Amino acid sequence: MGCTSYKILAPVTFGAGATAETGNVCVSLGSKKVLVVTEKALVNLGLVKKVTDSLEKAGLEYQIFDECVQDTPDYVVEAGGKAAKAMGADTIVGVGGGSSLDTAKAVSVLVGSGMTIEELLIPGPPKDNPKLITVMVPTTSGTGSESTQIGVVNDTTRKCKTGVGCIPSAAIVDPELTVGLPRSITVYTGLDAFSHAIEVLCSGGMDNPHSDALAYDAIERIIKWLPVAVEDINNLEARENLAIASNFAGVAFADAIVNLGHGMAHAMGTLFHIPHGVACAWSTPVVLEFMAPVCGEKYRRVAHTMGIDTTGKTGEECAKLCAAWQREFMKKLGVPDAQSYNLTKEDFVSCTDYMMNVEVMTMLGKRVPTREEVVALLEDAYEGCKSI
Ligand SMILES: [Fe+2]
Repeated sequence: MGCTSYKILAPVTFGAGATAETGNVCVSLGSKKVLVVTEKALVNLGLVKKVTDSLEKAGLEYQIFDECVQDTPDYVVEAGGKAAKAMGADTIVGVGGGSSLDTAKAVSVLVGSGMTIEELLIPGPPKDNPKLITVMVPTTSGTGSESTQIGVVNDTTRKCKTGVGCIPSAAIVDPELTVGLPRSITVYTGLDAFSHAIEVLCSGGMDNPHSDALAYDAIERIIKWLPVAVEDINNLEARENLAIASNFAGVAFADAIVNLGHGMAHAMGTLFHIPHGVACAWSTPVVLEFMAPVCGEKYRRVAHTMGIDTTGKTGEECAKLCAAWQREFMKKLGVPDAQSYNLTKEDFVSCTDYMMNVEVMTMLGKRVPTREEVVALLEDAYEGCKSI
């Protein structure tokens, strides 16, 4: 093994009831005025109150911005920035799923750096921008955004997704916030985290022993506990394991960036508004098959976890068996198929330009596809999910 390095970004406070620590964490970081960036549904469910109760108890001034919606549109980020400036916020606390956390990150950078929204969306390599104090409180177990250095923002003018660099100051991962999450969201977010871990293992040159260990652990927990959480949405032990898995996969891809599957998923999200976790679930089997010749051995252990007999099999064969297993997993979990969204094979193939020309992640795996290979991958993805 050659020289390697790995990052540990934001400190994480983990455990059932950890939300009550939000105020103390903010105070320890020097917060005075907090803008809570979240979505209306979470206010109505009472989840945001758990956060604001903690802020109040710690003597912090706060306001709530609850306009976050799916896919983190730039105009919501801009509105959040105005709200933060108007109250003189020094801290952003993001509460929600991936879209809300990414909105919170982008708002924090927008205000902390003094950039305009146009400047914020200029594509470039991710870097840690100046920001306000940024605390992430995820309410789903999927995105891992609380522990990654990027928030993905939807540029509604150029119709593409842009990564805004923002390393959170701290994260609060409280599995209690995910108890009772509807079955469909549990599946989508769980398979998003699963795709992160699978893609970490085939990340081009950025994987390392730390990211591998976290990815394997995340995969094991998801395989064991996602079906349990889907069966019983109130099972706290399952929620704890999925919260750890999601966070570990996020920490892992802070180094070993997600790649081909997310190139495909972002194309489908941008062009057809397919929920991110569904698009990730569709893309994972083709990632495993495409990467099989170059890093199949890494998937031998995943195959073991899946209960596959790998005796006498090559690594490449193991990866392909993992792909077949994942397609069955999707079926068991009730992932919607392409037909449910009225998508045709041509629609899938129409993602080629976006994957080749816009989404740099497509090219960040251990094996880089040609245009012809991207077309073939999209056709294979369609065949695998046209009717589940
Ligand atoms: Fe993802």
